[in-house]
Amino acid sequence: MLVSGNGTNLQAIIDAAETGRIDAEVSAVVSDQAGAPALERARRHKIASAVIERSRFESRDAFEEAIAAEFKGHGVELVCLAGFMRILGGRLLKEFPGSIINIHPALLPSFGGLDAQRQAFEYGAKLSGCTVHFVDEKIDHGPIIMQAAVEVREGDTVEALKERILKEEHRIYPQAIQLIAEKRVAIEGRRVKIKQGG
Ligand code: GRF
Repeated sequence: MLVSGNGTNLQAIIDAAETGRIDAEVSAVVSDQAGAPALERARRHKIASAVIERSRFESRDAFEEAIAAEFKGHGVELVCLAGFMRILGGRLLKEFPGSIINIHPALLPSFGGLDAQRQAFEYGAKLSGCTVHFVDEKIDHGPIIMQAAVEVREGDTVEALKERILKEEHRIYPQAIQLIAEKRVAIEGRRVKIKQGG
């Protein structure tokens, strides 16, 4: 898991793994922020964690190589971004081809980038939500694995909307990981094909 902040998605995935709801194990957490509360969550669950700060590296490639080395050292097969606040270059993608996913708090391709919930709210969208997608070279762009819709209510606030979207994030992120663990996810161009479960 690659994080920068609070780590509530990390927590949802740890909980799903620990209770056997997903056939996966969170084996390493990397944060680019030393003070990220996500790190404390990893420690609490005895999950290996590392702080890898961008400022300690001369190039983005070197930074991403260090992240890749950390994950490979723990046998990571799938890299999950959750609230990771940096744009990835090509290096990590090369190290984990087709094996990096992200969650975004809007229904892509609408409202990519920062502060997506506020963007949707201020645009006047009646429906927003969240998206789990593969990561590619462009921001919030790769093939979509799963989405959940969340209504924008009359009298809503950005904060209330954020909270309801986050709840859905916590529900669908583990589900998407489980689909991948069951090898039911195939990328066909821009489309992700989900095979029926046995
Ligand atoms: C989530 O809304 C996620 O979609 C976005 O950043 C937030 C991270 O929350 N990319 P958390 O750190 O998982 O609590």
